[in-house]
Amino acid sequence: MKEQIGPTILAIESSCDETSAAIISDGKVLSNIIATQSVHEQYGGVVPEIASRAHLQHIVPVVHQALQEAGISKSGLEAIAFTQAPGLLGSLLVGASFAKGMAQALDIPLIGVHHMQAHVLAHLIEDPKPQFPFLCLTVSGGHTQIVLVRSPLEMEILGETIDDAAGEAFDKVAKMLDLPYPGGPLIDKYAQTGNPLAYEFPIPNIPELNFSFSGIKTAVLYFLQKQVKLNPEFIRENISDIAASVQYTIVKTLLKKFEKAAKQYKIKQIGVAGGVSANSGLRKALEDLGHKNGWEVFLPKFEYCTDNAAMIAITAHYKMLHKEFTDLRAIPSARAEW
Ligand code: KG4
Ligand code: ZN
Repeated sequence: MKEQIGPTILAIESSCDETSAAIISDGKVLSNIIATQSVHEQYGGVVPEIASRAHLQHIVPVVHQALQEAGISKSGLEAIAFTQAPGLLGSLLVGASFAKGMAQALDIPLIGVHHMQAHVLAHLIEDPKPQFPFLCLTVSGGHTQIVLVRSPLEMEILGETIDDAAGEAFDKVAKMLDLPYPGGPLIDKYAQTGNPLAYEFPIPNIPELNFSFSGIKTAVLYFLQKQVKLNPEFIRENISDIAASVQYTIVKTLLKKFEKAAKQYKIKQIGVAGGVSANSGLRKALEDLGHKNGWEVFLPKFEYCTDNAAMIAITAHYKMLHKEFTDLRAIPSARAEW
C-alpha cells in the first residue's frame, strides 16, 4: 500500500518584527525565509507602526523566496497557515490578510496558529525530538512560560511571569548599558568574557511555578545609578562583568522554577523555546541541569528559536492532520488564551 504523504503548507509569521515564510511538506521543512527589520534598532525597541509597514514591504518577496527555495509552485499548496495570536495587532493583520487572500484565491484551507504553541513545537521540526510528555521553558521578548506538552496539540501552562518577560529583562538592562535593541544577544556576547559572580542581584521569591523579572530590572537600574555617580566610566569599564552577572541572575531565576516543575511533574525530557533560548548561558545551564538530574535536554537550532515561520508550519502540519482549520472570517488577536 502506498504510504500517505502529509500535506504541503505555506506558513507565514508576522507577529512582531520578523517577516517569515516557510514551506512544509509531509512534516519536513523545505524552506524557512526570515526578513529581520533592523529599522527598529535606532528607536531602542519595536515601533508597531513601522513594523506593520515593513511586513507589507517584505511579505511578497519573502513568500516568493520560500516557494522558490522549496521548489514548490502555488498550485502544489494544500493549506495556508498564519500566526493568529498573540503579537502586535497591525503586524498580525498583514500576515493574516495575506494568508486569507491566498487561501481564497487557491481555494484551499486556512490554518490560524498560536505563536507560543508554535515556539514549543519548534522541537518537532528536526531530530532529535523529545518524547511526550515533555516540559518546555518558553522564553521570549513577550513571554516566560513553563509548558507541559502532552502531545503536539495538548499543552498546559504550569507557570508564567507575573510582570516582565525574560527577554524584556535582557533588553531593558541592555538599554541601561546603552546597547541597541534587541539587547539580549549583546548581553550574551559581553557575558562570555565577564565574571558572573562580580555583582550580586536578588533572585525573586515568587509563589508556585511563576516568575518575576521587574525586581531584577529595578535592582540593576539602582545599582548602575549608584556606581555611575562614583565613577562615570563604570559601565564602559565593567560591561562584561555587569552583563555576565545579570545573565547569571536571569538564568538562575528561570532554572530554579523549571527544575521545580520538572521534579513536581516527574518529567525527564526538557526543552527550551523562544528567542531567549538562543542565550548561550541558558543553554549551558540547561545542559548542566539535565546532566545533574539525568534528564534529556532538547535545544532547537538557533534559526528555530527566534521568531520564524518553520515553527508555524510544523504546528499547522499537526493541525491539518487533526482537521483543525480556521474560518476565513477569523481575525487575529494581540492577546490570546490557549
Ligand atoms: O521569540 P522572539 O524572537 O520574539 C518574541 O516573540 O518576543 O524573542 C525575542 C527576544 C528578545 O528579547 C531578544 O533580546 C531575546 O529574545 N534574545 C536573547 C538572545 N537572542 C535573542 N536574549 C538573550 N540572549 C540571546 N542570545
Ligand atoms: Zn516569538
